[in-house]
Amino acid sequence: MADAIIWSVGGYAPPHIITNKRLSERMDTSDEWIQTRTGIRERRSAGDEETTATASIQSGKAALEASEFEAEDLDWVVVCTDTPEMWSPATACFVQDALGARQASAIDLTGGCAGFLQTLQIMSPLAQAGKRLLVIGTELLTHALNWNDRSTAVLFGDGSSAFLMGPSDAGHGGIRIGPGLSRSDGSQTDILGKPYGGTRYAITPELVREGRLHTIRMEGPKVFKHAVTMMSDIGRRVIQEAQLGLEQIDWVVPHQANQRIIDAVTHQVGIPAERVFSHVARFANTGSASIGLAMSDMLDQRLIKPGQRLLSVAFGAGFSWASQLFFVDQVPPAQFIHAGEPV
Ligand code: ACO
Repeated sequence: MADAIIWSVGGYAPPHIITNKRLSERMDTSDEWIQTRTGIRERRSAGDEETTATASIQSGKAALEASEFEAEDLDWVVVCTDTPEMWSPATACFVQDALGARQASAIDLTGGCAGFLQTLQIMSPLAQAGKRLLVIGTELLTHALNWNDRSTAVLFGDGSSAFLMGPSDAGHGGIRIGPGLSRSDGSQTDILGKPYGGTRYAITPELVREGRLHTIRMEGPKVFKHAVTMMSDIGRRVIQEAQLGLEQIDWVVPHQANQRIIDAVTHQVGIPAERVFSHVARFANTGSASIGLAMSDMLDQRLIKPGQRLLSVAFGAGFSWASQLFFVDQVPPAQFIHAGEPV
C-alpha cells in the first residue's frame, strides 16, 4: 500500500504583532512574568478584519502555490479548528469555495491543540488510497480570549498552516507520514476548554456583559502536569513502536504551548534540547495551527533536510494527546507568510 506524503506546506502568521509590553498596558501583567512562566515574547493577531476562513485561505493558497497542483485537483479540504468561522456550515466549505476546489468535499474537525495530529491520522488513509487533500489547521484564538483573565490571555495567538497531501505512488516526493498514536481522557473535560455557547451552557446576557462569551477557561497547573506526562509518554511510545532509538530522531516538533512545557517534555523524553524546535517566543500557542506552523517555519529556515526523522507531540482540550513520526524523503516546497508589524 502507498504511504501518505506531505507534498507541500503553507504557513500564515497574521500581520499584527502583540508584544508582552503591549499586553501589560492592557492588563495587570509584565513582560518578565510572561517570559519566565511561558517563554512567550509576542504573538500574532488577525485583528477584526480577518476570520478563520480568510486565514485558512491564506495558508491553503500558500501550500497550493508552492506545489505543482491546482485547487481543482483536490478531493478533500479539511479544516481543523476550535475557533470556527460559524457553528454551521463548516469553515472548510468557505475555504473550498474561495480556493476554487470545485471537485472537493469539505469538512471541519475539532480536537483542541492535539487536533491537527489527530486530523492527519484520520485523513492519511485517504491519501494512501490515492486522494489529494488540503489539511489545514487554523486558530483565531485572540477572538476566543477573555481579556479580563490574565492567566489565559497572555498564552495564545492566531495562525494557520496547511499540508497538501497525497499518495507516495503518484510520483511526487515530500515528507512521509509515519506511525502515529493518539489518545483521549474525557474525564478531564473541565480543566481546559471554551464551555459557553454550546448546548450545555447557553449564551446569556450576563456572559456577554462579563466578556465570558466563547472564551477559554483553563486550570493552568493541572493542564501543565497532564501535558508534560502525556506528551512524554506518547512520544516515547511511538518511537518504541516504530523500533527506533532516540538517537534516530533528528527533530522533535512539539505543540508550541509554552517553553516550560516544551523543556519539561524534552527532559522527560531524554532528547537533547538542540534537537527540539521552538518558536513559541514569537508566535505563542496557536492551537490547531501550531504544529504545521512550526514545520512551515522550519522549512522556511531550511532546518528540515532529506533523510531526517521528525517526532511531533501535542496535547490539548479533551484531554487529548497525540504523537506522530514524519520521515523526510524529500524536502517539500513551502511558503511561510509571516511579515508583521507591532500594534
Ligand atoms: N501576569 C502576572 N501574574 C499572573 C498572570 C499574568 N499573566 N497570570 C497569572 N498570574 C498570577 C496568578 O494570579 C498567581 O498569583 P497569586 O499567587 O497571587 O494567586 C501567580 O501568578 C501564580 O499563578 P500560577 O497559576 O501558580 O502560575 P504558574 O507558575 O502555574 O504559571 C501558567 C501559570 C503559565 C498558566 C502555567 O500554569 C502553565 O503553563 N500552564 C499550562 C498552560 C498552557 O500552556 N496551556 C496550554 C493551553 S491549551 C493547549 O495548548 C491545548
